Amino acid sequence: MKPTLQCPVCGEPLHPEVQSIRCGNRHSFDRSRYGYVNLLQKQKKKLRGDDAEMIRARRAFLDSGAYLPLLEKAAEYAKAAHPVQIADIGCGEGWYSCSLMKMLPEETVLTGIDISPDALRYAAKRAEQCGLTARTEWAAASVSRLPFAKESCDLILNFFAPCEAGEFARILRQEGLLLRAVPLERHLWELKQAIYAEPYENRPVLQAPEHFDLLDVKRISYRFSVSGQQLRNLFAMTPYAHKTSPEDAARLNALDSLEIQAAFGLLICRRR
Ligand SMILES: C[S@@+](CC[C@H](N)C(=O)[O-])C[C@H]1O[C@@H](n2cnc3c(N)ncnc32)[C@H](O)[C@@H]1O
Ligand SMILES: [Zn+2]
Repeated sequence: MKPTLQCPVCGEPLHPEVQSIRCGNRHSFDRSRYGYVNLLQKQKKKLRGDDAEMIRARRAFLDSGAYLPLLEKAAEYAKAAHPVQIADIGCGEGWYSCSLMKMLPEETVLTGIDISPDALRYAAKRAEQCGLTARTEWAAASVSRLPFAKESCDLILNFFAPCEAGEFARILRQEGLLLRAVPLERHLWELKQAIYAEPYENRPVLQAPEHFDLLDVKRISYRFSVSGQQLRNLFAMTPYAHKTSPEDAARLNALDSLEIQAAFGLLICRRR
């Protein structure tokens, strides 16, 4: 059964129609031909989130399995929590969402939320390819206004995406889990060294957001090799792609392969 979304106008539940979803007050939202629904209010439609090129690059890179250790650690906690309703906030192109859902029982359902319609197009397609269309919903919405009823979710995933503690606490049931992934100080260090004369370290916040208790922090660090097109995909999926001058970015083209450090922080937080 697909998860139920909440109408962003009046807060009533949204029910599926043929090519749309609609609430009891006749507020209606189109389902795109790719399968996701757009719940963004007009003023938010200009915020597009990640663009199609970043998303295509992320899909190709994540499909290589380079970040599997992070997924597997998160899956340990997700499985132990026996969630029914999962929300992946800032789900991107859905690699973490769909990979996790494949490991969970049939009764578990997931809603992926992202502000980027391009990301959701890829995510809905990935879900279809994984046979997950009936157990997933994909909606364009902002993290600052999540289309879920109060305390309707058991587990939130929030990987490398904006966090809104108040909204997360509203939609999560008491004692529900928030799994939040952040890049640690030297995540992708060698990639930065290859591009920048003076690379800077990340400054991760390893504390629970307001309304949450921190149960644990896992540091997941390892090295992986990446070459050719995958090296360029890795660069293109990061925020550096938009911040780097063409001259600096060209240094990557001179490299055939690179051994790179992955360093993730996984915060396991419980709603108070
Ligand atoms: C770095 S990507 C991470 C995607 C995915 N969680 C992953 O790890 O592969 C960050 C995602 O957050 C989305 N995003 C950015 N601002 C957002 C907002 N205000 N509300 C919802 N999503 C947002 C972007 O469009 C993008 O898909
Ligand atoms: Zn409504």
